[in-house]
Amino acid sequence: MEVIIQPTPNQLTVIASEIIRDALLKKPNLVLGLATGSTPIGLYKALVKMHREENLDFSKVTTFNLDEYIGIPIEHPQSYHTFMSEHFFEYVNIPTENQHIPQNTTDNYEKFCISYEEAIVSAGGIDIQVLGIGTDGHIGFNEAGSSLSSRTRIKTLSSSTLKANAMHFDGQINAVPEMAITMGIGTIMDAKRCLLLASGDAKSGAIAKAVEGPITAMVPASILQMHPKTTFIIDEAAASKLEEIEYYKRSYANMKKLMSQNL
Ligand code: F6R
Repeated sequence: MEVIIQPTPNQLTVIASEIIRDALLKKPNLVLGLATGSTPIGLYKALVKMHREENLDFSKVTTFNLDEYIGIPIEHPQSYHTFMSEHFFEYVNIPTENQHIPQNTTDNYEKFCISYEEAIVSAGGIDIQVLGIGTDGHIGFNEAGSSLSSRTRIKTLSSSTLKANAMHFDGQINAVPEMAITMGIGTIMDAKRCLLLASGDAKSGAIAKAVEGPITAMVPASILQMHPKTTFIIDEAAASKLEEIEYYKRSYANMKKLMSQNL
């Protein structure tokens, strides 16, 4: 597990976008796991810029989104389908048939969830999974108490998630859908690499628990301690409750030095 601490949220997006660009240049048919929410917006902007200015080619890329609300149409302004087209899909050349977001209109959720897992496997598995983190430590919509080996399924949102997401629904907590389809924690753990981005003081408690606390279903992101290749890319504010800040900064500086010597 690597922890990269940067002064500002903008620098997180630079690092994350460069990791994705490098991976895409090495593997044009990269399989990306994608998140929504406020955190990855800057990352999508940076990738769109690379597409426009450096001709970064997404034509062979396949994507799988983590989650989607149940109970609002996919055309709803706050659906994750709408979010992904407004922030990313409209501006890059990922073929529509390669874009996967959980379907919230199916009449057979169980069958759909199995087919979502199968589609990930038949695409060759997720190469890079982008993650945000909830203030309660959730990843995807895997709320506290989720099985650490769960697969794609339906979850009810916790009251802290409903409260946090109300800002996207004109502050109306009652307007936030209470249920969602989400990749499971086991599904996320199968990704070859995870990049978890977090910024701001509000995330500092969740980051400290996820990185340095015990592994527990009560803090779903803590399972990432067991993942062979996870990078937490966080700003100073989100890092502020970590105990080993000095160590994380020194390790990252050493790795950067080593990489530059090898080039
Ligand atoms: C959304 C998702 C969620 C968010 C988390 C943080 O696809 O997976 O776990 O990453 O709720 O949301 P923001 O970034 O809005 O703070």
